[in-house]
Formats: sequence, structure tokens, C-alpha cells
Amino acid sequence: MTVTLSAPPRLEGGGVRVRPFTDRDVELIYEVSADPSITSLTAVPPAADAEAALEFIRQQHARQTEGRGYSFAIASSDTDRACGQIGLWLDRYERASLGYWVAARRRGGGVASAALALVSHWCLTLPAVHRLELHIQPWNEGSRRTAERVGYRREGLLRSWQEVGGARRDMLMYSLLRDDLASRNAPTGQPARGGGSSLRGGGVSRQPGACA
Ligand SMILES: CC(C)(COP(=O)(O)OP(=O)(O)OC[C@H]1O[C@@H](n2cnc3c(N)ncnc32)[C@H](O)[C@@H]1OP(=O)(O)O)[C@@H](O)C(=O)NCCC(=O)NCCS
Repeated sequence: MTVTLSAPPRLEGGGVRVRPFTDRDVELIYEVSADPSITSLTAVPPAADAEAALEFIRQQHARQTEGRGYSFAIASSDTDRACGQIGLWLDRYERASLGYWVAARRRGGGVASAALALVSHWCLTLPAVHRLELHIQPWNEGSRRTAERVGYRREGLLRSWQEVGGARRDMLMYSLLRDDLASRNAPTGQPARGGGSSLRGGGVSRQPGACA
């Protein structure tokens, strides 16, 4: 069955804007392609040249047009300058797996947690998504604390879950359900403008990476 995903929304709150990538974000891809803390965990190509950086951006759009999920740039609300990425992949069991990264110059200021809150709350409004998942390596305290700050619950350790950097890695499984949100406050941000938020169809299949 073909999956049709609605256009990606633009979400805003907590000082960040979550929006689709544009070619102007190529500077960010250059910047982080020199950062092993990102290239070792994500699909960002190391030492990207212009062609590789633009190809990376093209692939982020393809995730939605091919019905696999969404990939967003995280930008400052005031300048719209991109400083990170957050993405999600959908599976056939009405689950979404999320990943994220933030450029080193913007870490420690609440960017990842603001973006994760926005995308998680939006995603759980989609009729075809019932469970959000994060796979986090146990050593990654920054990511663990980001997840917990947004309300994700730690479920357990998935031993030898997937290969990262040429070796099998354990992953902590975190999840967030609609019911979990009921006991928490509404997100700081709301959809700003842009496409709708319904998912139609089914039968998507993918193997999520550890991160966006
Ligand atoms: C993990 C990462 C996304 C965090 O981004 P960030 O914008 O700095 O996160 P925030 O500022 O929203 O911080 C959220 C919480 O994590 C804590 N935190 C962030 N980085 C931390 C670190 N390196 N060590 C310990 N705690 C950290 C913050 O203090 C905050 O905790 P609090 O709610 O108790 O105040 C960022 O460090 C990164 O991009 N790392 C490389 C890629 C990566 O690991 N991605 C996740 C893969 S699963």
C-alpha cells in the first residue's frame, strides 16, 4: 500500500522553530560534517563538500515524499538560522522513532528539548501514530536527559540492538504515549503554519538509525 504523508508542519516554541530544510541550511551541514559527535551517530556525511551537503538536504525531503517519515531543521525563532536536526521514521505498527542533534555552538541552551517537545506533541496528534520511541546509547547523558525532560519514559536496555560505527551497540529504549501527555502540561509551542498533520495509508517499513 502506498503511504501518503501530509506536508510537514512548521512548529514554534521555546525559542526554536522546527521547519523543513532549505538549501540555505547547507552552511549548517558543512559545519556539523566536521563534528564527529554528530557524524559518528547520524547520517550527516563527514567532511561534506557542497554536493554532499546538498544531497543530504535532498534526502531529508525525500523521507516525507517517499512516505517514510519527516526530517526537520531546528532553527532559531528570531533569525531562522538552522542549528540542528530532528527527524522521525514511521513503521507499520503505528509507531514513530525519533532522532536529533544540535550543533555544538548551540548546545546546553534547551534547543534539543524544545524541538523534541514540539515534534513529539505534534506527532502524537497524528491518527496513525500511537507510540514514539527513542533509541539512546547508555553513555549519552545529554540525549537521555533531553528525553526525560520532555517526558519520555525509560523502558529498558536493548542489548546489541544495532551497529553504530562498525560495532554492535546496546540501546536504551525510551517511549512516549498519548496517555503520558495527559498528566503533563501542554507544549510551549504550537503549530505555526504549513501543512496539515494527518497520515494516510499504512504499511511503511524501515529500520531506524540511532539518531536523526
Ligand atoms: C544530545 C544533544 C542533542 C542535546 O542537545 P542540547 O540542545 O544541548 O540539549 P538541551 O539543552 O535541550 O538539554 C536537555 C537536558 O540535557 C542536559 N544535557 C545536555 N547535554 C548534556 C551533556 N553533554 N551532559 C549532561 N547533560 C546534558 C541539559 O542540562 C538538560 O538537562 P535539564 O533538563 O536537567 O536541564 C546534543 O548534545 C547533541 O547534538 N549531541 C550529539 C548528537 C547526539 O548525541 N544526538 C542524540 C543521539 S540519540
